[in-house]
Amino acid sequence: MAENKKKPAGMAKPPVPLHVVILAAGQGTRMQSNRSKVLHRIAGRPMLDHVIAAARGLQPQGFHIVIGRGGDEVRSWYAAAHPQSKDVAFAMQEQQLGTAHAVQQAMPGIADGARVLVLYGDVPLIETSTLEDLLAAAGDQGLGILVAEIDNPFGYGRILRRGGKVVGVVEERDASPAQRKIREINTGVIAAPARELRRWLSKVGNDNAKGEYYLTDVVRLAAKDGARIQTAHVDSAEQASGVNDRLQLARQERSYQRLQADKLMRQGVSLVDPDRFDLRGSLLCGQDVEIDVGVVIEGEVELGDHVYVGPYTLLRNAKVGADTRIESHCVVESAVIGRQCSIGPFARFRPSSRLADKVHIGNFVEIKNSVLGEGTKANHLAYLGDADIGSKTNVGAGVITCNYDGANKFRTTIGDEVFIGSDSQLIAPVTIGDRAYIAAGSTIAKDAPADQLTINRAREQRSVPWKRPVKK
Ligand code: UD1
Ligand code: CA
Repeated sequence: MAENKKKPAGMAKPPVPLHVVILAAGQGTRMQSNRSKVLHRIAGRPMLDHVIAAARGLQPQGFHIVIGRGGDEVRSWYAAAHPQSKDVAFAMQEQQLGTAHAVQQAMPGIADGARVLVLYGDVPLIETSTLEDLLAAAGDQGLGILVAEIDNPFGYGRILRRGGKVVGVVEERDASPAQRKIREINTGVIAAPARELRRWLSKVGNDNAKGEYYLTDVVRLAAKDGARIQTAHVDSAEQASGVNDRLQLARQERSYQRLQADKLMRQGVSLVDPDRFDLRGSLLCGQDVEIDVGVVIEGEVELGDHVYVGPYTLLRNAKVGADTRIESHCVVESAVIGRQCSIGPFARFRPSSRLADKVHIGNFVEIKNSVLGEGTKANHLAYLGDADIGSKTNVGAGVITCNYDGANKFRTTIGDEVFIGSDSQLIAPVTIGDRAYIAAGSTIAKDAPADQLTINRAREQRSVPWKRPVKK
């Protein structure tokens, strides 16, 4: 072409922009749910979010999510979850007339010169590398179809070939008995140049068993046009598997968790049982970390070298220093825990706490919005809320920081090497000086000075004669 000749030699042609269309208009009847199907979660995030994330890896120019009735929920979830994102558009498909019709709803937002990749909001485990393979196979101008070889192809569209070349896709319901034996199936994911796709879509009819406009008809139309049609194979069935009901959702959840577990084990993390491990977020581990059964990790969690996490512990947005042991049945939320600490069993951290090194927190201790210095211990049955505690302080069993007067919250300040006797209440705001001793059972409403024993009990101990009652 004349125009091309004018370009200086060696100038790379501009890359063809990619637009991703995600079909999410389906009602998801079999989920038996009020919630839109694509908002059901895998590893704590909507399925749709996983699909978007996989496609984000391709750095597309835009996303077009096709929603149906009930799609407002999808739209508002997206706005809340990704307030910064500007590249996602929603296209409304009022009636579900088929996958081709669904894609058509997104096409007005896509320029002719672009490439289109069609994905499904209910096929959550698709990976970026698989999509890259498909785009590479398709090339800028060709039609690419992601296919799989599966043992039980029932329900899927089958790939029809003539002399090795793809000539069409036939849906289960429209297939002849011979075609039903084909094990090469359509995953549904396709890539196509926008201009051609628009043209093919306009020619798709609905004269088939379902009376729907099938996206798969595009393949036949492209073949008729003599277009270049390429396939990319996906090996793992779970990547291409859709979710229609809660059984399949649970199955995909386990597949996803197993993938994550395998990745962690390859990085050197010991999982006592990878099938009893749940990561709903990101986990960064040092060397020789050991995670026992039933541990759930949410948000962003970091575990230092040699950290041990005991059975059935929940860690949410936590950072744990090297050589710390967290025993079974702890709940740790938004906390930073130092090195060589000993936590639990049955300890609970509510948001915003910071523990220095060598801190011991034992059973039935609740900690909220508090700072604990090095070597401090609270080994049994305590509530430490809104407290600043120094180092090497010992908090006895049953100690409570009374931080709340029913309307406002106040802080408790405790110095270094303090001993708080069992069953004491510290009524905030209050300060306990360094090396102070608080006698067991004291209610401390005024500041206690350093280096002294402070005692406040209702009455001195008395003993009176007493006869044990006997049963009549
Ligand atoms: C589709 C493919 C089939 C493929 C299979 C893979 C067609 C005609 N068939 O079949 O070849 O093997 O996926 O799983 O494409 N949707 C809309 N609007 C509609 C219809 C569907 O958004 O009008 C969405 C659905 O929510 C779903 C997806 O598109 O997420 C696929 O639709 P579905 O009806 O499940 O297609 P299949 O019969 O599974
Ligand atoms: Ca389906």
